[in-house]
Amino acid sequence: MEETKLINGFPHIHFSRDIFSKAEMLERSQSYFEWMNDRRTVRDISNRPVAKEIIERLVMTASTAPSGAHKQPWTFCLVSNPKIKREIRVAAEEEEYRSYHDRMSQEWLDDLKAIGTDWHKPFLENAPWLIAVFRKAYDLENEKKRTNYYVNESVGLACGLLIAAIHQAGLVALTHTPSPMNFLSEVLKRPENERPFLLIPVGYPHEDAYVPDLKRKPLEEVAVFYE
Ligand SMILES: Cc1cc2nc3c(=O)[nH]c(=O)nc-3n(C[C@H](O)[C@H](O)[C@H](O)COP(=O)(O)O)c2cc1C
Repeated sequence: MEETKLINGFPHIHFSRDIFSKAEMLERSQSYFEWMNDRRTVRDISNRPVAKEIIERLVMTASTAPSGAHKQPWTFCLVSNPKIKREIRVAAEEEEYRSYHDRMSQEWLDDLKAIGTDWHKPFLENAPWLIAVFRKAYDLENEKKRTNYYVNESVGLACGLLIAAIHQAGLVALTHTPSPMNFLSEVLKRPENERPFLLIPVGYPHEDAYVPDLKRKPLEEVAVFYE
């Protein structure tokens, strides 16, 4: 029987975890780092199908993310319907064409040169699944507004776990931010409390895929210790 206790009148379950030795922790954290360091954003995604049951499990992992006051303020729209993918691609390319031609600064365009992106978004049709992530600015319970807290932080964390889960399954993803992306609310007919957050095509890498030869910052550049 699970050990429970009332705290503030609410049930709490006992929590414990296996303690690893230092050597085990080093091994686990090093091998997880090496595995995650192999993750890459892939833009050449093949049209090879991915089973719905896999996508379901990826989303369940994402939804384990911590969230402000445990509101889980996210909706994952899972699109494999070719007609809807086409609609999303056409709308995204329209916005991206304008961004690349009129809206992005020269600095931004220069920064993107090494990554090699432009306004063409074939992956929005080729990928077997598009995951459109929406953040719930507030919840609606019987038409009454309920506040959500730290919505951006919470949904960002859920997306991080989603991307890690996609990698763990042996698939690839692209964190895509067509800007502006309000068209996603219309195409997917989302309620007014939901705002588009990220659009993530998921699938297998194309067999002739290439990714930019990026280097990641070393520890000294991303961490400051206070001992
Ligand atoms: C918030 C966010 C928005 C991004 N938007 C785009 C995008 O619109 N198009 C794109 O091709 N890549 C996009 N990326 C992917 C980045 O370019 C990519 O993560 C970065 O170049 C590092 O490559 P890596 O993911 O392989 O480490 C985005 C990434 C993040 C985190």
